[in-house]
Amino acid sequence: MGAFLREHWSRPLAAQGPAPERFSAAERSLAPADCGGCHAAQHADWKASLHANAMGPGLMGQLVEMDAEDRDAHQDCIRCHAPLAEQADALAAAIADSGRRPPGHASARALHEEGLVCAACHVRAHQRFGPPRRDGSAPDAAARPALPHNGFTASPAFEDSRFCAACHQFEPDGFTLAGKLLENTYEEWKGSRHAREGRTCQSCHMPERRHLWRGIHDRQATRAALTIEAQPPRIAEGKVAARLRIRNTGAGHHFPTYVTPRAVAEIWQEDAAGSALASTRAELVLQRQVPLDLSREISDTRIPADGEALLDYARARHPRAAVLRLRLRIEPDAFYADLYRSLLEEDGAGRGRAMIRAALGRAEASAFVAWEARKPLPAP
Ligand code: HEC
Ligand code: HEC
Ligand code: HEC
Ligand code: HEC
Ligand code: HEC
Repeated sequence: MGAFLREHWSRPLAAQGPAPERFSAAERSLAPADCGGCHAAQHADWKASLHANAMGPGLMGQLVEMDAEDRDAHQDCIRCHAPLAEQADALAAAIADSGRRPPGHASARALHEEGLVCAACHVRAHQRFGPPRRDGSAPDAAARPALPHNGFTASPAFEDSRFCAACHQFEPDGFTLAGKLLENTYEEWKGSRHAREGRTCQSCHMPERRHLWRGIHDRQATRAALTIEAQPPRIAEGKVAARLRIRNTGAGHHFPTYVTPRAVAEIWQEDAAGSALASTRAELVLQRQVPLDLSREISDTRIPADGEALLDYARARHPRAAVLRLRLRIEPDAFYADLYRSLLEEDGAGRGRAMIRAALGRAEASAFVAWEARKPLPAP
């Protein structure tokens, strides 16, 4: 399986080359909508996923600033975000074009804009690869020429966490900070109880083989990662004491696994009308914090799989305090929002400026409250 995966994910990927003569236009096409003509369920899921949005304005706003001919620089990003050779061609053409024509000129959506497409995971040299059928079988060689797109080659690699590691884990010699790889999701998983109990990336992120890949951008998925307990507040000697306990019981890796999200646990006192009271707020940040230039690791307060974090609260009781509020807020794109703000402030976004502004709007809008509670305080 190691050999299959090395070959399958050896990037830059080779061009598909000519399709078999007998393929119809739909079978030749690499466009997800054409796969969707026959695989409607996977297409509907995929379209709603972040994989389908992997070439959003945050990416394109940075890519249009690159030299159209510098294919190696493009690969540094699209090897994960839009890896097909045909997407690399479309991207190079679009960058060359962006100097001449207003963006958004092209009428048809170019292949690179479709992000991490079906074919990037499933098609090499016009052959389909996929997991064995649900009953464990695969089309035999004799039957294949009669099937759409000549059937498929089954590989158990599709059911293995290493399939995802191709993009969600840096190589051992990759970029590190404080001795830890910048992307280490597969290794975090491998060291966890989930790996020992046979729960793969696919079991949690593709249940029933669904193509949604929900993660920290989704409130429900995020709640599924955590067990949160808040003890009733105690009052002693004019002080309010409380404890918020957050356990990572459901993510198969650190919570969160990347340097890009930030989770903030907060506790504060409120008056009877629901207004926050000054100087009563305490917070605990759960994040692997790095500066925009990635020059060092500032802190790492993520919760490893099966680990826990505590926010212990002890503050003077405000004379008007009626309620203790506890909350866990998630900013899935915190790092990117900071990056975009800095690009816009320094005027470093160039031709990508409008796209970077759109990306900042999206990054800010992704924040949500994952959990909250109100605990009445006994009357003084
Ligand atoms: C004309 C209809 C049609 C089109 C277009 C089509 N497929 Fe298929 N595909 C099928 C059928 C039917 C099967 C089931 C073959 C079998 O089980 O023997 C299949 C099987 C597969 C499988 C194997 C599923 C498994 O059980 O592992 C994959 C993966 C796949 N297709 C991917 C794609 C992708 C990606 C595209 C677009 C690039 C695509 N297909 C376009 C009809 C189509
Ligand atoms: C070819 C590279 C590639 C492969 C292979 C890949 N991913 Fe991704 N994945 C990405 C990229 C790039 C993104 C970010 C997309 C974006 O938001 O721009 C992503 C996003 C995600 C997210 C969304 C996380 C969030 O922030 O909410 C999840 C979950 C995920 N991938 C899981 C998986 C799983 C599970 C597999 C294996 C079945 C897998 N990925 C395979 C490149 C890949
Ligand atoms: C090893 C695979 C990989 C490579 C290479 C890579 N990314 Fe990503 N990228 C990801 C994954 C996974 C995510 C989603 C998780 C996250 O938010 O950090 C992501 C998210 C992003 C996002 C935020 C989501 C979005 O779509 O707006 C931006 C922007 C981004 N990457 C830009 C880049 C740029 C620019 C490069 C090239 C310099 C690059 N990436 C190279 C894997 C990769
Ligand atoms: C990030 C990689 C990735 C992308 C993108 C992707 N798939 Fe898949 N697909 C997989 C994996 C992995 C499995 C096997 C999941 C498992 O076994 O749990 C799979 C399974 C399938 C199956 C078999 C489903 C079944 O129920 O047996 C089909 C068909 C399929 N994919 C088609 C598609 C189509 C069509 C698209 C685009 C609309 C697509 N895939 C996009 C990785 C991907
Ligand atoms: C036991 C279930 C489980 C397993 C196994 C699992 N995940 Fe997750 N994953 C989650 C949950 C829940 C979240 C949402 C909370 C979070 O971000 O940690 C998540 C979040 C993510 C994210 C969002 C980004 C971030 O910073 O957290 C990515 C990317 C991801 N997982 C990829 C993977 C990959 C790749 C694997 C396999 C190596 C994997 N996951 C294994 C449950 C799981």
